[in-house]
Amino acid sequence: METVRLDKFLTQALAITRSQAKELLSKGRVTVDGVVCKKGDTKISPAQNVMANGKSVSAAAEYVYLMLNKPEGIVSASRDPRDQTVVDLVAEDFPRRELFPAGRLDKTSTGFVLITDDGTFAHEILHPKHHVPKTYVVGIDTPLTEEMIHGFESGVTLADGQTMAPASVKALSDDGLLVRVELRQGVYHQIKRMFGVYGAGVNTLHRDGIGGIMLDEKLAPGQWRQLTESEVKTIRSAAQKISL
Ligand code: URA
Repeated sequence: METVRLDKFLTQALAITRSQAKELLSKGRVTVDGVVCKKGDTKISPAQNVMANGKSVSAAAEYVYLMLNKPEGIVSASRDPRDQTVVDLVAEDFPRRELFPAGRLDKTSTGFVLITDDGTFAHEILHPKHHVPKTYVVGIDTPLTEEMIHGFESGVTLADGQTMAPASVKALSDDGLLVRVELRQGVYHQIKRMFGVYGAGVNTLHRDGIGGIMLDEKLAPGQWRQLTESEVKTIRSAAQKISL
């Protein structure tokens, strides 16, 4: 019978971070078959009854859904011969799962990447007809203009002739160099290319929301947590609204 480390079992089943699991354990809040257990490396089998804070903890669900705060320099892929990938950052805790990123961020971009092993979910949220909203905080090298705002709203035509779906952009700083962009599309280098049409370069690009769920502020770059069931539902329902 397959066994799993107690700390891993808790992080996966309760959608909590490793440090939160450690805290639960060290405070004596976890029992295994009725006995307090403070050791995260205790191996447990599916037949054992694990309780945390007096409540029974069921084994992890069929699929894994993670929210990662991607640091700069990491590629949005499962494997890469040269670079570290977003899946490399989480894989240690999911040795038997075939994880992949549901959507990409450029190597230089940071922020919210969804990682899962649920192909149907990924297909739903990435399908071009589903228009799941994604929000970004973007540092540009030329102050935001009315022309850009109106252009984004009506649909920017990129240098190669492709016209983008309507998007929104608004200033976050008085100098107009920090802006918030909302897209409902995922074209390669889309934001950089959209600003490029106006001669503006992108210095920093951070995704902070997908399908109405904001990146957890408690996650430092490189950290991740499981999405809660209700967060997965929210993102799924954003994918089901065919809005354009
Ligand atoms: N648009 C870009 O140009 N880069 C990203 O990483 C995401 C959106």
